[in-house]
Amino acid sequence: MTMSQTVASLLTGAQLNQEIHIKGWVRTFRANRFIALNDGSTINNIQCVVDFENTAAEILKNITTGAALAINGTLVESQGKGQKVEIKVSKIEVLGASDAEVYPIQPKKHSFEFLRENAHLRIRTNTFSAVMRVRSALSFAVHNYFTSKGFYNMHTPIITGSDAEGAGEMFRVSALDPNNSPKNDDGTIDYTKDFFGKETNLTVSGQLEAETYAMALGKVYTFGPTFRAENSNTTRHLAEFWMIEPEVAFNDLDANMDLGEDFIKSVISEVLTKCKDDLTFLEQRLLQEEKSKPQAQRSDMPLIEKLEFVTQNNFKRVSYTEAIEILKNCKPNKKKKFQFIINEWGADLQSEHERFLVEKHFKCPVILFDYPANIKAFYMRLNEDGKTVRAMDILFPGIGEIVGGSQREERYDVLKQKMKALDIDEKELWWYLDTRKFGTAVHSGFGLGFERLVLFVTGMGNIRDVIPYPRTPQNADF
Ligand code: 4AD
Ligand code: MG
Repeated sequence: MTMSQTVASLLTGAQLNQEIHIKGWVRTFRANRFIALNDGSTINNIQCVVDFENTAAEILKNITTGAALAINGTLVESQGKGQKVEIKVSKIEVLGASDAEVYPIQPKKHSFEFLRENAHLRIRTNTFSAVMRVRSALSFAVHNYFTSKGFYNMHTPIITGSDAEGAGEMFRVSALDPNNSPKNDDGTIDYTKDFFGKETNLTVSGQLEAETYAMALGKVYTFGPTFRAENSNTTRHLAEFWMIEPEVAFNDLDANMDLGEDFIKSVISEVLTKCKDDLTFLEQRLLQEEKSKPQAQRSDMPLIEKLEFVTQNNFKRVSYTEAIEILKNCKPNKKKKFQFIINEWGADLQSEHERFLVEKHFKCPVILFDYPANIKAFYMRLNEDGKTVRAMDILFPGIGEIVGGSQREERYDVLKQKMKALDIDEKELWWYLDTRKFGTAVHSGFGLGFERLVLFVTGMGNIRDVIPYPRTPQNADF
């Protein structure tokens, strides 16, 4: 059997004058002679030169943008400019024709809005294939990082009976007939008759289960889909997104911040070396796009330089209390340029504030820690002051919050008290409380929104464009 080669392997130092066999899709065909062929293995196309005088008209007619081809030929030094090597075609087979009249992906610039409506075809463009190759490399880098540090990968449940974040923004999972569901005497739905015998939802986080595993395996991480039914129509929110959640026994908040910073730097470094061509393409795309923006909105650094900057510089660590002082006294706050004015300690930070701190004030990634207890989740460890918790958020330029994490409340009584104050059902989380009864220990973890990382690394502007099929309010097509 002759194996097909890939465009990537032919373009990177393959032996000249060898017979080759390759399959791929036509990007462009010009002068009835030059096919730009792409097979997904690289952002680059290989030029295939057709001997049109000796090729059937029927075949030539079907070499159109989008068509699938199988090509036999010889790899030769290119006669023309723009590429080192090309394929001198000896045989060509049209595996699947593509009607050029109606094919939505023409060889021209399409708007991202148009491409979102054609999400099944947008992967055939340079931009989306580059983004998705980077996404794949990042995903691998995540597993690579944790495996190399001795973490165990665990799969936390997707269907859950508990609300890990206590925010109540969950999608219900039920097998009951919505038009004919069993009722309690008071008219409410009787979930004891449902599939699981109780109310269940899609998970918002695998953290609580990960904590139980960290209490035996030491270092674990989960990397899976999470779901949030919040009605946020922003460029940074999805209803279904992938989250990476490490959890480490005996780590305090400082160790947690160290891990978060090292982790992000490592995975970015890895894709900087593995995805050079794609990142170079995405950097050029961004430069073109920025030309049409007013000067003030352009970013200071080209994409790759920005990524290198992040990997080479320390993240700035600042307490929430210090951050509030900076924000209270900053120009956009005083001039009422913020949508949400910061008046006092205790205010929840909005993305405009986070981005001010990162982009205007510190000009580097920032880790904020020790947040007010009442704007954070129940499981975070209470500080001695009785009003702040050992929380940390990592904030990134152009993104805002990319990581949310904390040292966990490991003291049984304190945790029980906090749950009571927030009206969280102890009976539902009895197993979680058990970890504090049997061999409890200091432990910490965090969650990184994978799409926000991909957004940052690719320089794309909308989170809908860095996941294959985005789920957002009013949208679950494909
Ligand atoms: O800050 P969050 O809500 O933290 C947790 O869920 C914790 N249980 C994590 C942990 O400590 N194990 O979410 C973590 C991260 C955010 O920083 C953000 O990057 C991302 O998840 N995220 C979203 N990404 C896309 N769309 C959304 N709707 C997101 N909500 C959170
Ligand atoms: Mg958060």
